[in-house]
Amino acid sequence: MQKFNFLNVLKQSLKPTRFFVILKKVYSRFFSYEGSLSKDQNLKWIKSNISEVSTFAKTISSTLWEEAITQSNILEKNAHKTLETINYDLGGGAAYPLLYFLTRHLRPDNVLETGVAAGFSSYAILSALKKNGKGTLYSSDFPYFRINNPEKYIGIVVEKDLKKDWNLFVEGDDNNLPKIFKSVKKIDLFSYDSDKTYSGRSKTLKKVSNFLSEHYVIIMDDIQDNSFFHDFIKENNISHWKIFEFENKYLGLIGQVANIK
Ligand SMILES: C[S@@+](CC[C@H](N)C(=O)[O-])C[C@H]1O[C@@H](n2cnc3c(N)ncnc32)[C@H](O)[C@@H]1O
Repeated sequence: MQKFNFLNVLKQSLKPTRFFVILKKVYSRFFSYEGSLSKDQNLKWIKSNISEVSTFAKTISSTLWEEAITQSNILEKNAHKTLETINYDLGGGAAYPLLYFLTRHLRPDNVLETGVAAGFSSYAILSALKKNGKGTLYSSDFPYFRINNPEKYIGIVVEKDLKKDWNLFVEGDDNNLPKIFKSVKKIDLFSYDSDKTYSGRSKTLKKVSNFLSEHYVIIMDDIQDNSFFHDFIKENNISHWKIFEFENKYLGLIGQVANIK
């Protein structure tokens, strides 16, 4: 995380659409509901339900999983070369091998992701869509307001040739999602890696659920932060879900991946 820089925060706050997003972020930092389970109970529940991602993927297609690993190694090498040239720590990426794998396997028409940052997940999804020869990615992000000129770092690791067909929105999910849903009515794959608060997740899932296609798949990062994932699958009687570990964090998957051909 970047150090607090008053001037950078002020510059971003002066933009009216961004002011309200920043205000909500500050508010939820102090007043956030953790869900029906305490942090410890949630972590215990997560750990007792973990599946091994490579076993899961190989059961569906070992060839595609191998391809996902090969492509992820290329992505990592290219991304780190780019990130070495900048002074900021933009944070790590989502579970990009899994995102690549799912995009290749599901062959979605429309993918939605919230939370871009340096763009590991966007890079993985876009390269898989390119390989599929079809599909569009809609990404929603909000600039890191602690750094100077944050917009120029959004998706910085994404290769130039992949950017030309990319629909990127950077005014925060509350502002971006209505714009995205004006042009896309069915989402086949949704990667949620933006606002991790309970209320943020709840609000976003409500909005997105109106636009999910019949065989949708959702990936939610950092489910250890609060018990939203646990509560959501219980309250909605969802029977097809998985939990995976990625770089010491946990992500939840909702949807029936194996039966989709
Ligand atoms: C963990 S990073 C995303 C990492 C990315 N998925 C990857 O694989 O490289 C989270 C991103 O979500 C953004 N974010 C946080 N709150 C948001 C909001 N309310 N709307 C849109 N983006 C938000 C942050 O600014 C940050 O860029």
